[in-house]
Amino acid sequence: MNILGIETSCDETGVAIYNPEKGLICHQLYSQVTMHSEYGGVVPELASRDHIRKLIPLVKQTLAESRLNTSDISGIAYTAGPGLMGALLVGATTARSLAWAWKVPALAVHHMEGHLLAPMLEENPPAFPFIALLVSGGHTLLIQVDGIGQYTHLGESLDDAAGEAFDKTAKILGLGYPGGPKVSLLAETGTDRFKFPRPMTDRPGLDFSFSGLKTFTMNTFNATKKTEQDKADVAFAFQKATAETLSIKCKRALLQTGLKTLVIAGGVSANKQIRAELLKMTKKQNAELFFPRLEFCTDNGAMIAYAGCQRLLAGQQETLEIFANPRWPINTLINI
Ligand code: KG4
Ligand code: ZN
Repeated sequence: MNILGIETSCDETGVAIYNPEKGLICHQLYSQVTMHSEYGGVVPELASRDHIRKLIPLVKQTLAESRLNTSDISGIAYTAGPGLMGALLVGATTARSLAWAWKVPALAVHHMEGHLLAPMLEENPPAFPFIALLVSGGHTLLIQVDGIGQYTHLGESLDDAAGEAFDKTAKILGLGYPGGPKVSLLAETGTDRFKFPRPMTDRPGLDFSFSGLKTFTMNTFNATKKTEQDKADVAFAFQKATAETLSIKCKRALLQTGLKTLVIAGGVSANKQIRAELLKMTKKQNAELFFPRLEFCTDNGAMIAYAGCQRLLAGQQETLEIFANPRWPINTLINI
């Protein structure tokens, strides 16, 4: 059973083939970063047009590298949301049309469920139940995961997502797009000079807020001479505050639920400082931390192929509808 996975929700075209007996067969990624960097952020219309150009060649390349024919594909999983509507529609229409032509089922996959299950592609996958911190460009979510599709919402960002805060900090510091990796790199040369707040940690609950931190970052930076060292020190302080805030909330979630397994996924989980902070905390709590390999933290086709495969194996059937939903809450997913 070979499942083709297609990811086109934002600025990466990802294609992969997953086989439940053999594991991940092949994955390919085409990143639009160079194209968008000229504009300082993702331009939705350009993203859609580029997915149209790249998707079919990438599907062909993935099949060729896997030494598989179209007749070897048993199902197609595609990201149906959340994401940019135009970009999602490219993946959804392509996947649905190929599924029709190849007479196989098509599965609409939730992008955040893909991120959430990405650590399952590793050699030592986490076992259910666990707490998951999903941190991407559009989401900061804390959920309890009892099984695939069995998600209990624990907390979320009330304003900016963690990735968005990294991207905005990069803009404030004049680093450009994509912000997260640039802030992280610059922070390596920073010193522990500024003390930033840890938002919403002084009151109970598992929600987050990052927009005040962004304003604090801007005001702090504007009060400096804006030298290279000032920039690095601000990046350091912002990253440290974000990492500690995420860690405090994850610790609370572990204590509140009594669970001993924490999974982090999504683009921001690629951040070294955040991983280190969470590792330190989980060790102290006698808990275990799981995360995907770096290339599967950010958007990719492998996580979509895996999630779709699990749903297909559980007998989930889709209609012939081309389904795309740019705002699709994860807690509305069907249990399997
Ligand atoms: O999961 P993802 O690739 O796309 C979405 O689903 O949004 O996440 C992208 C986000 C961006 O905000 C990016 O700045 C952030 O993840 N990111 C990072 C790092 N790498 C990517 N943030 C902090 N540190 C990183 N190393
Ligand atoms: Zn993502």
